[in-house]
Amino acid sequence: MRIRSVVLGLLLGSLSMLAFGQKAITIKLSHVVAADTPKGKASDFFAKRAAELTKGQVKVDVYPNSQLYKDKEEMEALQIGAVQMLAPSLAKFGPLGVREFEVFDFPFIFDDTADLHRVTQGPVGASLLGKLDAKGVKGLAFWDNGFKSFSANTPLRSAVDFKGKKFRIQSSKVLEEQIRTLGGTPQVMAFSEVYQALRTGVVDGTENPISNLYSQQMHEVQKHLSISNHGYLGYAVIVNKKFWDRLPGDIRGQLEQAMKEATTYANKIAQEENDLSLEAVRKSGKTTVYVLSKEERMALKKAMAPVHNKMADRVGKDLLEAIYKETGFNANAP
Ligand code: LMR
Repeated sequence: MRIRSVVLGLLLGSLSMLAFGQKAITIKLSHVVAADTPKGKASDFFAKRAAELTKGQVKVDVYPNSQLYKDKEEMEALQIGAVQMLAPSLAKFGPLGVREFEVFDFPFIFDDTADLHRVTQGPVGASLLGKLDAKGVKGLAFWDNGFKSFSANTPLRSAVDFKGKKFRIQSSKVLEEQIRTLGGTPQVMAFSEVYQALRTGVVDGTENPISNLYSQQMHEVQKHLSISNHGYLGYAVIVNKKFWDRLPGDIRGQLEQAMKEATTYANKIAQEENDLSLEAVRKSGKTTVYVLSKEERMALKKAMAPVHNKMADRVGKDLLEAIYKETGFNANAP
């Protein structure tokens, strides 16, 4: 029985290599941020290690900065196989029908990276990635970016400062509720359009980790940046499942190894990159950087707390509880 399945496995393996015509396999990896960001650098790292580990049998072509596809199109392109790999922000999986990923958008749900990694690198994270299978998508890893800060042309220090302002958000219902809870108006917009929208005043402000703000020059068109670290932005690296399953087993194994190394690299550099970007924003003198005090941050946390109850059903109460358990979430502690 075992011999038969081994023979069958070998046969299927060589058939799949035949399906790829023995030629170098090309993986198109499309993403929306600059090459010089945590995601951009990790993508390039993966491409390099994939080529090395497969001895040139796999070529990963990285397309940064929405060169190939914008947010919404890239998900569709992956599903039809026009690209093989993406690393969308966790806030962009709702339109795919995987609403659970929006749990990462809950304000103040993670105190720090250690909290976050207990989720992304543990059983909760693995089960979340597994939910993608049904969509023809395979989740390979979580990559960090970092904690988001708010920016606008007016200072944002407490909840009242958000009233009546329009904020660009990613396509997440939780983020929509977050802005509404603060009395602002949320506007979903592709990442590639944010700079222009801020410049022309189509929206008043936005939220992002500093590496995204800086690499898109958003700080040049936002007079105020409040270091609030009120929520998390990170990525799930995903592939077209059919493509992945059809890869010869040895190649898939080598790519898994390259992804493992790229993940370690991504999560190591993310904080560093955001710190460097903050320093560069400060040096540019184009925007006033304000670090919220402990009390101001706590007041913002309290103001945003209703989002947790309101959106619990959207992501599932059990999932939310499982994350609270991992992180020891406390709505009343700073
Ligand atoms: C955004 O749209 O603000 C982010 O998801 C961009 C990114 O991929 O980091």
